[in-house]
Amino acid sequence: MRAVNRIAAAVFFCAAALQGVAMAETEHLDKLIVAHRGASGYLPEHTLESKALAYAMGVPYLEQDLAMTKDDHLIVIHDHYLDRVTDVADKFPGRAREDGRYYAIDFTLAEIKSLNFTEGFNLDENGQRVQGYPGRFPMFTSTFKIHTFEEEIEFIQGMNKTMGGNVGLYVETKAPWLHKQNGKDISKATLEVLKKYGYTSKDSPVYFQTFDWPDLKYVKDELMPALGMDLKTVILVTSSPDETYELKDGKWQRFDYHYLIDPQNFAELARYADGVGPDYHMLIDEESSKPGDIKVNKLVEQYHKHGLQVHPYTIRKDQLPPYAADVNELYDAVLYKAGADGVFTDFPDLGIAFVKNKEQQ
Ligand code: G3P
Ligand code: CA
Repeated sequence: MRAVNRIAAAVFFCAAALQGVAMAETEHLDKLIVAHRGASGYLPEHTLESKALAYAMGVPYLEQDLAMTKDDHLIVIHDHYLDRVTDVADKFPGRAREDGRYYAIDFTLAEIKSLNFTEGFNLDENGQRVQGYPGRFPMFTSTFKIHTFEEEIEFIQGMNKTMGGNVGLYVETKAPWLHKQNGKDISKATLEVLKKYGYTSKDSPVYFQTFDWPDLKYVKDELMPALGMDLKTVILVTSSPDETYELKDGKWQRFDYHYLIDPQNFAELARYADGVGPDYHMLIDEESSKPGDIKVNKLVEQYHKHGLQVHPYTIRKDQLPPYAADVNELYDAVLYKAGADGVFTDFPDLGIAFVKNKEQQ
């Protein structure tokens, strides 16, 4: 072999080996580490930059939260309003609803793309912006923008091509009930985009997740069959009473999440979902747990009896509960003591490192 070809071959094999190692390390982990809103502990949540960073950390799945614009585009954003993560209040004063929030559904994609995106903040009693996680990326520095779901899929598929990977999408339709109240079917729009980009079956690297149990039943009973799709689905569970509303007796009423943690209903859950995503606090006996001695309950075991995977949310090293001495103790409690199959985390590098270390023990 000529010298130049030997060098080219060495470069090729090094690159392939590096890519192979990165993928192999991720794919062979027994626990699924999901990059929650990307590597959102390091870069503003849901930006393409945070997705690229999480991709490079070796995650198997990147999370997308979706909302719809006034002109029916799907955008990647956690809240269905824009004011926690953009300068919308500066650029469009007077466009808030009565509750003071600037709803994504009231703005066109062009208007939303004109906004500057930032690390999240809240307003204090004087109306001053206070960063939600003070140790994270500095608020309103550099330049970030909101992108569409299609742009994110093309970004991930593009990286899969250049990096030789098969990183998947963990897609959440945010507040389908609120979109319905505003005349929009976010789940149908989401499935149509997924189908357009080739994600149609349970073998596709996609989890379709939602907090809206009535909407998941609609997705499984009507939408997916009509579109010839059968994706993996996950029902999210919370103790927050205002997360989901359902239309009952002609009135929008709070959905009662007790239904989703009552083992009597788990057989029905398993008819509609491949997995469950509970708030991790629901797996812990919080009264008796203390650092060095976290006690878990049997919830994961009970979901497992019905063949449901369990992917709790969200582990953050900068928002630890009082009973966890550090983030590793929390990963351990959720993934190994409670026995969850995976976890959402804002710090995917730490999650991957913890699981790899555990598996080598
Ligand atoms: O989807 C899993 C987790 O992200 C749920 O919480 O509020 O961050 O979407 P949230
Ligand atoms: Ca989510």
